[in-house]
Amino acid sequence: MQFDIIENPHPVAQDRRREILADPGFGVHFSDHTVIIDWTDDGDGGSWHDARVEAYGPIALDPAASVLHYAQEVFEGMKAYRHADGGVYTFRPRANAARMNRSAARMALPQLDEEAFVESLEQMLAVDSSWVPEGEGAALYLRPFMIATEAFLGVRPAREVSYRVIASPAGNYFGGELKPVRIWVSRDFTRSGPGGTGAAKTGGNYAGSLAAQAQAAEHGCDQVLFLDPLHENAVEELGGMNVFLVTSDGRLITPQLTGTILEGVTRDSVIQLAQDRGLAVEERRVTLDEWARGIEDGTIVEAFACGTAAVITPIGELVDGETTIASPGTGEVTASIREELLGIQTGAVADRHGWMHRL
Ligand code: COI
Repeated sequence: MQFDIIENPHPVAQDRRREILADPGFGVHFSDHTVIIDWTDDGDGGSWHDARVEAYGPIALDPAASVLHYAQEVFEGMKAYRHADGGVYTFRPRANAARMNRSAARMALPQLDEEAFVESLEQMLAVDSSWVPEGEGAALYLRPFMIATEAFLGVRPAREVSYRVIASPAGNYFGGELKPVRIWVSRDFTRSGPGGTGAAKTGGNYAGSLAAQAQAAEHGCDQVLFLDPLHENAVEELGGMNVFLVTSDGRLITPQLTGTILEGVTRDSVIQLAQDRGLAVEERRVTLDEWARGIEDGTIVEAFACGTAAVITPIGELVDGETTIASPGTGEVTASIREELLGIQTGAVADRHGWMHRL
């Protein structure tokens, strides 16, 4: 795909950028450029066109654009890391490209060729590689997204769509040093039902999680845990992360993919790394009662959240209404899988699965 490059004439000053990279936080600062590819359907099945790199800045959207009314939108989250060889690498970009296309199919958005998706990331890093932060756990978070831009208030798939990539230097998602997070069990809200959009990475799933997340924050918790929509107490996922439990006999348990939870690329990678060590991984229905009982009788010894933003974050406490169940905190399996995964991503550990892609 041919990209036109229009460099930002007013990039962030070098001193300011260095200041940002020294303490990037999560999702609050953005690099100098954005990548854009537009799509139009003139009744011919549609085509992608006008691929370009431009200065980062506000999007001019018609107030009637479908994304603003019906949330026809999907997004991805990935990270880019600087390795010791000086190159910048990202993790399993084709897995994200494939997931974006699955999400797009669910949200009646067009398919973007995997090659074009990977190329869009390469274009981003070609202009903004100076935005990759260094240091433990730091990376340039890449956020590809696709929005329906057609000005039309009827409810049907938009005929004009824009795919974009923005980049944001990122440290620990939960802020500060890595520490076990406190989880609020959502009893008032569920996330998705059978046949719904739960497996799609679409903004509405996250908008729908915010009221529950606000309850979590009110109760001094970092994240919300959603249970199944049929109120059978089965664990689904956190507001923006998948969940794993570790048993005392060395098994990993994670909710199976039923279409209501996100098919996490980190989740899939954790399963592979655990299996490589000879650990059994059970993808199955697991209830909150099984988790709580397991903590009590010592058969569940660790729990962690995982995702691109969260990497692998230990779960410390589960707050279910008036009851607080103290999870054992950072255990050995959580710490060592985190270290191995981060090691592969940052180039310190051999990439035996060929997961890293040089941008
Ligand atoms: C990610 O982990 O990349 C996500 O998209 C989750 C989001 C809550 C930051």
